[in-house]
Amino acid sequence: MTIDRPDPASALSTTSTTSSSSTASPTSPASAPSAPLTAQFPADFLWGTATAAHQVEGGNVGSDWWRREHRADTDLTEPSGDAADSYHRWPEDLDLVRAAGLQVYRFSVEWARVQPEPDFVSRAQLDHYRRLIDGCLERGLTPMVTLHHTTNPLWFARSGGWAQDQAPDRFARYVEAVRPILSAGVEWVCTINEPNMVATHCDWAAAEMRQVKRPAPDPVASQHLIEAHLRARQILSGIDGLRSGWTIGAQDFEALPGAEAVARAFGHPREDCFIEAARQDDFIGVQNYSRNLIGPTGPVPLPPEVETNLLGWEYYPASLGRAVQHVWRVGGGRPVFVTENGFATRQDARRIDHTAAALVSLGQAMASGVEVLGYLYWSLLDNYEWGSYEPTFGLVAWDRTTFERRPKPSLAWLAQVSRTGRVALDAAGHALDRPA
Ligand code: BGC
Repeated sequence: MTIDRPDPASALSTTSTTSSSSTASPTSPASAPSAPLTAQFPADFLWGTATAAHQVEGGNVGSDWWRREHRADTDLTEPSGDAADSYHRWPEDLDLVRAAGLQVYRFSVEWARVQPEPDFVSRAQLDHYRRLIDGCLERGLTPMVTLHHTTNPLWFARSGGWAQDQAPDRFARYVEAVRPILSAGVEWVCTINEPNMVATHCDWAAAEMRQVKRPAPDPVASQHLIEAHLRARQILSGIDGLRSGWTIGAQDFEALPGAEAVARAFGHPREDCFIEAARQDDFIGVQNYSRNLIGPTGPVPLPPEVETNLLGWEYYPASLGRAVQHVWRVGGGRPVFVTENGFATRQDARRIDHTAAALVSLGQAMASGVEVLGYLYWSLLDNYEWGSYEPTFGLVAWDRTTFERRPKPSLAWLAQVSRTGRVALDAAGHALDRPA
């Protein structure tokens, strides 16, 4: 998300890296490039890509984010508007994923559409999302369904959001309403996306819908999110073949020498308490975009010469392997699914480099014993990056007027990786096999 992610911080200047994550630990900053530069993934490894409702569907008028976008004093650059119109164009999106040969499509059900008022559940909206699930299955794609991705119904936010005592009950009622559409053919469900960011971004006691940066997650909201997650897993537990978990914003807090205890104390409320709560889950989703260096007084600012993405986050793809190892350790060895990883750039070749290097670090983490089930690139489409369309993560661009989809070379590149299971980097950290 563009807002409030702790600044990627680095005292070690690096523009690209192939650093080994198998030797790194969250307390030992990675250093010089090291071998191996290739990764071979198992044949049953799952490859795919992800989106989230508010970021691609358009017209999510009943949500707290829509309200925030349209406040007279909005703090955002632009509203989401029609987004990529995926609410209507999802068949085209699924066709692109299928044509590329990727296997998994992760998307979210929008709570604000399904339950636009506390006392009304829309059957029509549930049918819409069931059609999306069926659309995946008909194309041979595996759907991964997220039940909550950042946005809330306006009524839920107005009544106190995740800080209100009834939050877990209210979420449970929504999950019960969605349960019937998940009862056939859905293997993967993510309850709540990045609960650690949800608990950090919102000051529910402030004026309505004003989401502000908090210095740390709200402990009450954190507790309610954990309770809501456990309730949701319980509600889904009877469904045959369904695996549930939640997806953690895995920030790779990396301690500078001597700052290990500070980094642990910093990371616990921001990440580890949510991983600990997932120790009985079927899988833990890992979402990583960069690293964050922690010094004796907290996050260390990035030096200006460091290469960054369009959001100002350090180009540091090896953080994926490190984040996965951290989640594996704190999560007590629950299987990991990389549910988001990507790079916001206008240079698609650099996106490919970043993804290739991230995958090499992931391969190293797997070689060290971490069970990783799959990798989903964020995002299928350039999407609404929580306040602006400028930071482009997508494998596919689209025309802002006609909505015409325009696949980028990175989509074909990822498709090729998924077919061969192989990724290779040169010594400078560039993908060896990227399209000309
Ligand atoms: C979120 C996405 C977001 C991505 C990039 C993750 O925190 O799940 O919604 O677009 O990061 O900021």
